[in-house]
Order: sequence, then structure tokens, then C-alpha cells
Amino acid sequence: QRPIGVAVLGHGTVGAEVVRIIRDDALDLQARIGAPLEIRGVAVRTVSPERGVPVELLTTDAESLVTRDDVDIVVELIGGIELPRKLVRAALDAGKSVVTANKALLAANTGELAEAAEARNADLYFEAAVAGAIPVIRPLTQSLAGDRVDRVIGIVNGTTNFILSAMDETGADYAETLAEASRLGYAEADPTADVEGYDAASKAAILASIAFHTRVSASDVYREGITHITAADLTSARALNCTVKLLAICERVTGPDGRDRVSARVYPALVPREHPLASVSGAFNAVVVEAESSGRLMFYGQGAGGAPTASAVMGDVVMAARNRVQGGRGPRESKYAKLEIAPMSDI
Ligand code: NDP
Ligand code: HSE
Repeated sequence: QRPIGVAVLGHGTVGAEVVRIIRDDALDLQARIGAPLEIRGVAVRTVSPERGVPVELLTTDAESLVTRDDVDIVVELIGGIELPRKLVRAALDAGKSVVTANKALLAANTGELAEAAEARNADLYFEAAVAGAIPVIRPLTQSLAGDRVDRVIGIVNGTTNFILSAMDETGADYAETLAEASRLGYAEADPTADVEGYDAASKAAILASIAFHTRVSASDVYREGITHITAADLTSARALNCTVKLLAICERVTGPDGRDRVSARVYPALVPREHPLASVSGAFNAVVVEAESSGRLMFYGQGAGGAPTASAVMGDVVMAARNRVQGGRGPRESKYAKLEIAPMSDI
């Protein structure tokens, strides 16, 4: 069977783990896919032999790498918006399968990349973009596609949950805990995205879009971060038998006119101690889905970090590679109906 060529863009916290798994687990992956995965190149800013990757695989020319004839799957793990948008568009336009963990990119203009993928009948997978290792994209796009989802509530940012739990459980200092989250590879390259709620807002936009078969971009999401939360707030919450969590809340809202609208919002909220989300600690995430027929479902696990995120990325890589070997295409976007965004005054 012809090998499946993979281009990995980025060799940071997540990219390095993805490259390690592809190389270390080559035989197992080949058996699961039915063809070997071969890394054609790893795009970085700085080429160095100290990365532990054969130096001939490293390149600073991501643009040439993504359209190479021997590349089938492009795995985007650079982060940011403009450069990855250009690279992912070029890859999709060239008919490559794309796997990305980049929620900021996906939610900047939700639907743009899905349309580019559809136009070329190419795969676009993004399980790692929301809640790290936890499978939530596939359950919402596939398993629940025949149900009517009414609400998705989650803790979807590991960094802020790490900070809030440490402040609550040990009285840890905010700035020191944020620095620790960066050291552990949980935080974004610019952690402002985490602590000001932008990262959670991008994830909320993605969840709302796939849960309600509509298109919500990050700018549609009401957002507050955790920078104003103090030790005194956590003490007050404790006195009320509550804790404070940064929640992403996505709801289908039926207005007085009988029309469905969608509300997506991110803010720190008081959560009663007996609520399942209150016990989600550290960089763990949890997503609660409420749907008409299934009732309440809860997804829980590691929401950030190199290895957990690489697990979700690799699941997508295996799916895309199998499609290349066996034919077929990954989960297609729902035929969506654009729902209006409900104003906060209606919530
Ligand atoms: P890092 O900052 O650790 O790594 C980014 C990588 O991209 C680095 O290897 C860097 O190269 C490379 N890079 C940056 N600019 C360029 C460029 N112009 N050309 C080529 N390579 C470039 O990021 P993460 O691994 O943490 O995150 C990657 C993506 O995954 C982001 O979209 C993030 O939001 C997402 N994500 C991250 C999670 C996490 O827990 N860390 C979890 C879920 C999603 P160099 O090494 O030379 O600097
Ligand atoms: N910075 C993100 C977080 C990474 O802390 O949740 C996972 O998406």
C-alpha cells in the first residue's frame, strides 16, 4: 500500500508529541490504517538538530511543504490566525486532508474553512480544537446528529481552570499559577487568550456551531475573563458552598416570536459544590450536553497539554489516513440554517 505522507506544521508542545507518536508507534499505526504514515516535513521557525527530529525533515518553508505532491495530510499546530489560515487554505485548495487543533483559526470566521474543504471534497478534522483529549467534536457532529441539542455547558479552558482550582484549593497566587500553566504547556503562546476568555470564546463558537447546526464566530460570543477574580471572591464563593469556574455556555433560545436563536457566552460563574462541574480540577475540562432524546451527557478529561492534545490530533490523522486508503470522507458539515445570535438582554 502507498505510504500516506504527513506534513506537521509546528514542533512545539503539541507538534513535538504528534511527531513522536508518528515515529514511535509507526508499526501500530500502519496496522490500524492499512498503510504506513510517513512524515514528509516538520515546519518550524528555528531548525536545530537538538529537536530530536532528523534535521532533513525540518523546514522553515511551511508554504512549500503544504502543497508538496507527496503530502496527503497537513497537520496544523502552529497557532495564531493569519499564517495558519493561509497554509490551511493552500492545503485544502490542493486537495490535502487537514487536521488542526487551532480553535482561534476555526472560530475567527466560522464556516470559511469548512466551505473550502467542501469545495475540494477534502477532509477537515479538528477534534483537538475543543477540550484537548476529550472527544466532543465527533459526538456532537456524528453521534448526536439525529438529536436536538438544547444546551452545551462546559469548562473548556485548562489554563484558567488550573488557576481557579489552585486559588480555591490551596490559596495559590494567580500570577505564579499562570506561569506554571505556561511551563506545563497548557497556556497559549500569549496567555492573554486564556485568561481574558478569548480561547474559551473560540471553543464556545465551535461548540455552538456544531451543536445547533449554525455558524457562530468568536466575535458573536459574549466574553469575560478571570483577570478580575481575586482570592476574596473565592473565599466568598466558599461561604456560599460554591466555587468559581470559567464556563462556556451555548444555548438554543426560543424567543417570544417562536423563533430559535443561539446564545453563546463565556464568563466566570458561581458553581454549587454539588454540581459535577465544581469538582473538575487542574487542567481538566468537562462538557455537559443536554439533548432532547439523549438527556444529559457529560464528557470529562484532560483539556490541555502536549500528550492529551496529541491523542485527539492523532485520532484525526488516523481517520484522515484511513479515508485516503479506503476511500470516503470525514464528517461533513451539517446543512446548516443560520440562527440569529440572541442578545444578552434576552438571557
Ligand atoms: P507552541 O507555541 O508550543 O508551538 C508552536 C510551533 O509552531 C513551534 O514549534 C513554532 O516553531 C512553530 N511556528 C511558529 N511560527 C511558525 C512559522 N512562521 N513557520 C513555521 N513554524 C512556526 O504551540 P502549541 O503546541 O501549544 O499549540 C499549537 C496549536 O495547538 C495552537 O493552535 C493551540 O491553540 C492548539 N492547542 C494547544 C493545546 C495545548 O495544550 N498546548 C491544546 C489544544 C490546542 P519554533 O519551535 O521554531 O518556535
Ligand atoms: N490554552 C488552552 C487551554 C489549550 O488552556 O485550555 C487547550 O486548548
